[in-house]
Amino acid sequence: MNLDELVEAAWGVRDRAYAPYSKFHVGAALLAKDGRVFCGCNVENLSFGLTNCAERVAVGAAVAAGVREFERVVVVADTTVPISPCGACRQVLAEFGVPEIVLVNRVERLVFRLEELLPRASAGILDSADGK
Ligand code: THU
Repeated sequence: MNLDELVEAAWGVRDRAYAPYSKFHVGAALLAKDGRVFCGCNVENLSFGLTNCAERVAVGAAVAAGVREFERVVVVADTTVPISPCGACRQVLAEFGVPEIVLVNRVERLVFRLEELLPRASAGILDSADGK
């Protein structure tokens, strides 16, 4: 699937966002190495901290389908500047090494490498966890 198609998929799933509190709708489309696409929208909760962002919903759908290797993710929102993924989502994208992150609004696309958005994501973590 090319980038235009992935962007379309992200706009499509954005329509399903459950965002009664923020009214801010986000869509994410995650392209796997095997060519499959996994989509997610934000899913809010009355207990605000339980909200799931679109990116993490997409990653969860992929992992639940047995897929863990990815090419890129597209994130869309109807914003004045392309949306910036939250820190938690950057960490989750880093967990699966999603190499390219494309941030999209109605007029613009910004392309980032994961390393640019979350430098040194996992350096040292659990290194020497046995305490030696
Ligand atoms: N949100 C996402 O789904 N992805 C982002 O990259 C940023 C924010 C959602 C979470 C919440 O439902 C709403 O947008 C406002 O923060």
